[in-house]
Amino acid sequence: MSARDLAGTVAVVTGAGSGVGRAVAIALAEAGGLPALVGRSREPLEETAGLVAGAGGRPLVVAADVTEETAVTDAFARAAEAFGGIDAAILAAGIGRYGPIETYALADWEATLATNLTGVFLCAKAAIPHLRRRGGGAIVAVSSGAGKQGYPELGAYSASKFGVMGLMQGLAGEVAGDGIKVSAITPGSILTPFGGRSEAAKREAMASDPGKKYLEAEDVAAAILFLLRQPRRAWTQEMNLWPF
Ligand SMILES: NC(=O)c1ccc[n+]([C@@H]2O[C@H](COP(=O)([O-])OP(=O)(O)OC[C@H]3O[C@@H](n4cnc5c(N)ncnc54)[C@H](OP(=O)(O)O)[C@@H]3O)[C@@H](O)[C@H]2O)c1
Repeated sequence: MSARDLAGTVAVVTGAGSGVGRAVAIALAEAGGLPALVGRSREPLEETAGLVAGAGGRPLVVAADVTEETAVTDAFARAAEAFGGIDAAILAAGIGRYGPIETYALADWEATLATNLTGVFLCAKAAIPHLRRRGGGAIVAVSSGAGKQGYPELGAYSASKFGVMGLMQGLAGEVAGDGIKVSAITPGSILTPFGGRSEAAKREAMASDPGKKYLEAEDVAAAILFLLRQPRRAWTQEMNLWPF
């Protein structure tokens, strides 16, 4: 595999301001790809853009909220215009608000579903015509281990991520004929600021409890790039990625 084997691959990456989305954007740039960086806050996206440029990439920053259909449609249109088309949509934007259902606020439930599930729906919907125009491509949703198994205090989060699994399974059959591969990756815990706990706090937890293990964001990015690298004849529908 050559170092720049994804040269020219255009990917819209949501959640690109930190964690998995940022790691995907950098890894893609290192492989010669062209990431369009999507997230709500411009400042972290600009930071990612600097890292992407440092990795030899030519980043595009598009601040957009994945829960807003017009913003999402515009973001994909801008990426297609800037780079001449889109080959992949990597959907990593998400929020983690945890707590017992008995006291869980309706507003948190709605925000969780809007971001983690409706956001994936809107981005996938916006991506399809661009990918079809390119003769095929990939939609990769970052679900979670909690998208296959419920855990106490993760009920709302799990509901959103289980929803992503069903959405991706249904969509896969709709667009396979267009050469579009739809995949979901279901990682276990990752060392990112996700879920209201800093990366440093997670590192401390890992240091004090040998049983506590995390993936690095780069591990998830490498797995996602593996999906983009698969030959056209091969499709990974679901990838379960655990810390080991
Ligand atoms: N960390 C874990 O342990 C873990 C485990 C399994 C799966 N996951 C999943 O992995 C994905 C990436 O998470 P991460 O760990 O990289 O967390 P992260 O570092 O917190 O990144 C999440 C990103 O999503 C963006 N985002 C949130 N709401 C958004 C919205 N409405 N519109 C656009 N962007 C939005 C955030 O930027 P803004 O706030 O600026 O918009 C942020 O950059 C998530 O889908 C998460 O559910 C995480």
